[in-house]
Amino acid sequence: MCGIIGITGRKFVTDRLIDGLKRLEYRGYDSSGIAVLTDGSLQRERAEGKIKNLEAKLNAANIDGQSGIAHTRWATHGVPNETNAHPHFSGRVGVVHNGIIENFLELRKELSKTREFRTETDTEVVAHLVDAALEQGDNPKDAFRKSLKQLTGAYAFGVIIDGVEDQIFCARAGSPLAIGIGEGEMYIGSDAMALTQLTNNLIYLEEGDWAILTPDSYEIFDRQDKPVTREATIISGGPAMAEKGNYRHFMLKEIYEQPETVGRTLANYIDEFRLTANIPPELDFSEFDRIVIIACGTACYAAMVAKYWFEQLGGVAVDVDIASEFRYRKPVISKNSLFIAVSQSGETADTLAALRYAKEHGTKTAALVNVMTSTMAREADIALPINAGPEIGVASTKAFTSQLTALASLALSAAVTRRALSRDAEIRLARALIETPRLIKESLLLDGQIERLAFELSSSKQAFYLGRGSQVPIAYEGALKLKEISYIHAEGYAAGELKHGPIALIEDGTPVIVLAPYDNLFEKTISNLQEVASRGAKIILITDETGAKSAGDLASYVITMPDSDSFVAPIIMTLAVQLLAYHTAVHLGTDVDQPRNLAKSVTVE
Ligand code: AGP
Repeated sequence: MCGIIGITGRKFVTDRLIDGLKRLEYRGYDSSGIAVLTDGSLQRERAEGKIKNLEAKLNAANIDGQSGIAHTRWATHGVPNETNAHPHFSGRVGVVHNGIIENFLELRKELSKTREFRTETDTEVVAHLVDAALEQGDNPKDAFRKSLKQLTGAYAFGVIIDGVEDQIFCARAGSPLAIGIGEGEMYIGSDAMALTQLTNNLIYLEEGDWAILTPDSYEIFDRQDKPVTREATIISGGPAMAEKGNYRHFMLKEIYEQPETVGRTLANYIDEFRLTANIPPELDFSEFDRIVIIACGTACYAAMVAKYWFEQLGGVAVDVDIASEFRYRKPVISKNSLFIAVSQSGETADTLAALRYAKEHGTKTAALVNVMTSTMAREADIALPINAGPEIGVASTKAFTSQLTALASLALSAAVTRRALSRDAEIRLARALIETPRLIKESLLLDGQIERLAFELSSSKQAFYLGRGSQVPIAYEGALKLKEISYIHAEGYAAGELKHGPIALIEDGTPVIVLAPYDNLFEKTISNLQEVASRGAKIILITDETGAKSAGDLASYVITMPDSDSFVAPIIMTLAVQLLAYHTAVHLGTDVDQPRNLAKSVTVE
């Protein structure tokens, strides 16, 4: 996904646009650019790579104006170079875009008959459409409005026009866009983070909305071009630009924040005095005969763990699916289902599309999100916060353990509501959750040992993560963490599954990370460990104190996590795989917080 920001006012904008881009860099960092209106004429600078490259160019170019737009890119069409960097120009028009124009090829084919294209991007067609309409005599408002009508796909746009000094044109369909209301200036931004230093008074455009901003006004129109009023939201305390503090990377900071962030999540979902789950009354689990949990990536692995919890504690049938597949398989959704979208950003296009599909089919929907101003939070029937605070590292860590904590609390509530748990069992499970922040803090003491172990792992070309039961999704998550930040290929597998083919890949020295807390599946997992060890695998066993005693010297390395109730073991074991991936990536010198090819939230399908 990309990040866009724009300002129209009476003061120079370049420095504040760059500051806003830095707050958006987590959304994508393949390239960046800025365009301003200076005495009515369009000027721009663009640079490949991180925003610091753009800053270096601006120090030399020194462009400024009182209206401007800026963009940081996660490439969808066209290689991430300067030519394909936004803003894109055509004649009098400059545009920045987040999303995908699905019909851009047919538009480009038609426009190319009379106009010259300079980039490989889908976005460039928008600049040409608006400029062509202006050339045909349309006024700027009609030129923008008519151009939108020709587009299909997902977009959030900011447009400025040469000769239209004090106006920004913007629109959203499928990608988030907010208007910021200032004193004598107006703003557009992809999210609250972009605008937090400029204003806390935001209006989130709705699907199909478009708007015209001037320094003292804004007009919003709906998809049918009717003027509409949208409610303003005061962002309390605004997501301040998270700072790294003394940490080398945001990811490490966010790993170390987990005792506190899981504690904050618990405060929202567990009553520590009554030792019971404390969830919104509108979420009554007695109404549902099935729960469908949809998400992407790490969030989906949290959903997979939740399936074990809901089914084992409360006998609630749970389907988990990756969002990009869900609606295309024409799922059977009963009216008595509860649909839960799990998403840190609340903007992931695949998950949002699945949520909308469920709503269209009459299912009650909930969104478990970290950003309560996100599109999913606003469109779901029930918004459930995880309260993990801004997560800047592209590799999700604290959001994952908070998602798990919230889902565990919901599963506990469902079991109690369905009278599937004794009061003693409820108290035990609530206490296990309450203990989690302390156990996470204790787990972090293993950081040094894990760092030394990571040095070994960093010379590997591949790795396997094995688990059983609710550790299987943690094996998937461990493999994803290693892949996405160290670029070492890794696979997570159900431990019992390896012998059905993948074990052929085990060679002498292949690292196999085995997640095995001492539970009812421990012995079986150890048997699988021996199967790969006998074929030369280098075993890293992640277990707990009881498991370490039982496993003896079967493994090359043992990471001993604190003993915990099996209910929360998936949360505790996560710390080990997060730290293992982090330190491996640091050894390899990759860009831990902004790994290649990735973005923090993918708002395109
Ligand atoms: C996780 O480390 C990745 N960054 C990615 O898999 C992420 O979890 C996924 O894109 C879902 O994002 P969301 O939670 O914001 O929807």
